[in-house]
Amino acid sequence: MRRKKLLAAGIVFCMAAQLFCACGRERADEKEKIYVGVAYYDQSDTFVNQLIDCLKEQLEAYGEESCETAMLLRAAGGFQRIQNDQVEELIDSGCNVLCVNLVDRADPSEIIDMARDNDIPIIFFNREPVREDLMQWDKLYYVGAPADQSGIMQGELAAKLIQSNPEIDRNQDGKIQYVVLEGEPGHQDTIIRTENAVDTLKRSGIEIEKLSYEIANWNRAQAQNQMQQMISQYQNRIELVLANNDDMALGALDAYEKLNYMESVLPVFFGIDGTDVGLEAVRDSRLAGTVYNNKEGQAEAILKLAAALVSGQGVDTMELEDDRYVYVPYSKVTKSTLDQYLEEE
Ligand code: BGC
Ligand code: CA
Repeated sequence: MRRKKLLAAGIVFCMAAQLFCACGRERADEKEKIYVGVAYYDQSDTFVNQLIDCLKEQLEAYGEESCETAMLLRAAGGFQRIQNDQVEELIDSGCNVLCVNLVDRADPSEIIDMARDNDIPIIFFNREPVREDLMQWDKLYYVGAPADQSGIMQGELAAKLIQSNPEIDRNQDGKIQYVVLEGEPGHQDTIIRTENAVDTLKRSGIEIEKLSYEIANWNRAQAQNQMQQMISQYQNRIELVLANNDDMALGALDAYEKLNYMESVLPVFFGIDGTDVGLEAVRDSRLAGTVYNNKEGQAEAILKLAAALVSGQGVDTMELEDDRYVYVPYSKVTKSTLDQYLEEE
């Protein structure tokens, strides 16, 4: 199995050092306990699962010494009602900090009320609540990534490749015919990624022609279906596929594979995330590139916040936007920069 390193060792070390300090201060009187309750929107999301694996690993790593740590996980199968009940259960089980990946990012009120009644801070992650909701109480935080940057980077990757490979314009009409596979409607990343990728391509002076946009809800199988339909409609006119995440880019590839298209007539595909499967596809030149959604950095920020909030030492030492937000930057991944993201086991 391939594992991602991306400074993981360094991250864990820094966190451990910081947490041990926090714990050390307490040690004289009482041993610190960090009981993290994690509620996430759906168990089948590739990126969110990998982010949660990072959280687990990092929490275990710094729980090994003086802190007592535990993590309880609940997946909501795509239902906000279920998630609300799960959060209640996490609170009843004694969690002293909650990490919530909302099902419906516009509907966090019930969860916020329960947390406030029990004085348990919440760190929302990956699915961003609207600002007014985050300002409902002073123990609410958000950890995510700047969506516009991921779109810009995807556009830059595509522009660079197109400029140096004129054969991507297969019908040589001076324009790049493209389709987009979009994530869930209403998700903060969906529209922003698409808009920024397309604008960046245009700004780089590339003539593009939109053939179609289809929603595939971040999902590989749905993307395959949508792509099969677009292929039957546009045949081999499609020259570029921009997907809002790696799973959908891979679903698009699956569609071509299923239809037995020859490699020489395939469009170029770009994703976002750098999941394990996404990175492997870049390594195998099946994806032309992706944009790394830094899950290690996001997990680090979540746990730093959690430790600071539970220890009562406060979050003053952390760099927060508007005192509440952490946005961990993206980075571009191509075959030539891949090594820093991949690690052989
Ligand atoms: C990721 C997607 C993921 C979604 C879930 C996005 O930031 O890029 O892969 O499905 O978050 O909320
Ligand atoms: Ca063309």
